[in-house]
This record gives sequence, structure tokens and C-alpha cells, in this order.
Amino acid sequence: MDDRIERIHAAARFVSEKIGGATPLAGIVLGSGLGKLADMIEDPIVIPYKTIPGFPVSTAVGHKGNYIFGKLGGKPVLAMQGRFHYYEGYSMELVTISIRVMKVLGVQYLFVSNAAGGTNPSFKVGDLMIIKDHINMLPNPLIGPNMDEFGPRFPDMTCAYDKGLIAKALDIAEKMGTKLQQGVYFGTTGPTYETPAEVRFFASVGADALGMSTVPEVIVARHCGIIVFGMSCITNISNTDTVAGVLNDGDDVVSQANAAADRMSEIFKQIIASL
Ligand code: HPA
Repeated sequence: MDDRIERIHAAARFVSEKIGGATPLAGIVLGSGLGKLADMIEDPIVIPYKTIPGFPVSTAVGHKGNYIFGKLGGKPVLAMQGRFHYYEGYSMELVTISIRVMKVLGVQYLFVSNAAGGTNPSFKVGDLMIIKDHINMLPNPLIGPNMDEFGPRFPDMTCAYDKGLIAKALDIAEKMGTKLQQGVYFGTTGPTYETPAEVRFFASVGADALGMSTVPEVIVARHCGIIVFGMSCITNISNTDTVAGVLNDGDDVVSQANAAADRMSEIFKQIIASL
């Protein structure tokens, strides 16, 4: 058997045993500073990544390293408190293993979140943006022999972000009195923030928000037929010019994301309750 598939199944067996053989309906990936949603999960079972066979350990700032299983909006969910980034040095196989483990456990929906820099001039720090589409500038995680048991060699990406879930989010946000932005997430490897020339370039080809995650997980989820909803928290406005004293900073990103986490968590919870 393919070693990669063995690793996925070994990890899935371990997690399944920890959660008593339960089937999570939705998976949730909590981005930098957005981990608070985990506190809303009822009857939580915490599974540190470091205990799961074959799993990497997440090292990024603002990221804890746990799967948390429990109920959110009355539905069984498996949340990732912290994710794996390509810039941490992991292979794309390891960056995305947690998503394939979710698939083996029966997850049907994936909710992804991230902190991102805003390039759309109408965005402000603290805005939440529904991800309508993405542009991938990371290595594609499906490169290599296709894992046929998960999906096809050439998966469709025209409907990566589910329109029905986007409509639900807009409806929920309107009732909450929260304005949501919508846009295209542009994923790069990082770990450098963009130069002003890069920001202008990426914006000119359609980026509304810039980040270093999410796209690999979404590609792997869509490959295996998981329905995806994604949201970015705009934690900074990307500099289009070199301004003395204006620098990007990982701590600002985490504190801004913390401030928006409650609104995002409530939206995820209400969508999941409606599934
Ligand atoms: N660029 C890339 N990734 C990010 C940013 C940014 O400006 N802010 C938060 N994550």
C-alpha cells in the first residue's frame, strides 16, 4: 500500500479511538489568533497533534497544536486548533494530512479560517472576508502519484467555495448586524510578508487578501469531495508603498485576529447548526 495512505489511516484510527468511533460532520481549521472558537465546543475531547502517529507539530505563532472534537451548534465537529504551514518546512503531504484524516473519519464539510493582509482598497483592519475563490502560488499539494481512493487525478476547482454556504453566511451576518466582505484569497508560501511591489502585482491580478495558508487544505478537501466554506480575518492592510516606520508584524496579526474571532466563531457556529 502507498505509505502516504497508511500514514493517514494510522492517524485516523488513533483519532477515531479517542473520540469513541464518532463521526464528525464538519471539520474546522482555526487560523492565527482565531483559536477561540475552540472554547465554544461542548464536551470537548482534546487530542494533541504530538500524540497522533505521523502528525507534525505546529510551530507557528498564535497556533496551538490540537484536534478538538465535540459539539458546536448541536453538531459533531472536529476542529484544528492550529494548522501546519508550508513555511514551517513540512512537505505538502504533512501540511494537508489532517484534512485527509478528517475525510476518513467521515467529515463532509470543512470550515477554514485565516489571518490575511488586505489588498482590496475598501477593506479595513478587523474586517471578515468570505473567501469566494483563491489563487494558488504555493506548490500544489496533489503533485505526485494520485491517491485514487480520495479523488480524481484532475479535480475541478470551479466551485471550490460552496455557494450555498456563502449565501447562508451572508444571511446570518445580516441578522447579526455584521458586514462581511467577499473576495479572492491569494496564497503564497511566506514566511516573508510581501514587498510593496509584490502587493501591487498580486492586487493587479485579482487578490483581495494575501496569506500563507488555507489553499493547500482547500485543494485537498475538494479533491476528496468535502464541501468548503472559508473566511479571512483582515489583520493588516498590505503596504503598496514603502512608508518609513510601517512594518508588518506577526504579533499585530494575532491581536487583530483575536478581536474578530468572536464574530467569526458565531458565524461558523450558526452555519454548522443549520447543516
Ligand atoms: N501577508 C501574508 N500573510 C498574512 C498577512 C499579510 O499581509 N497578514 C496575515 N497573514
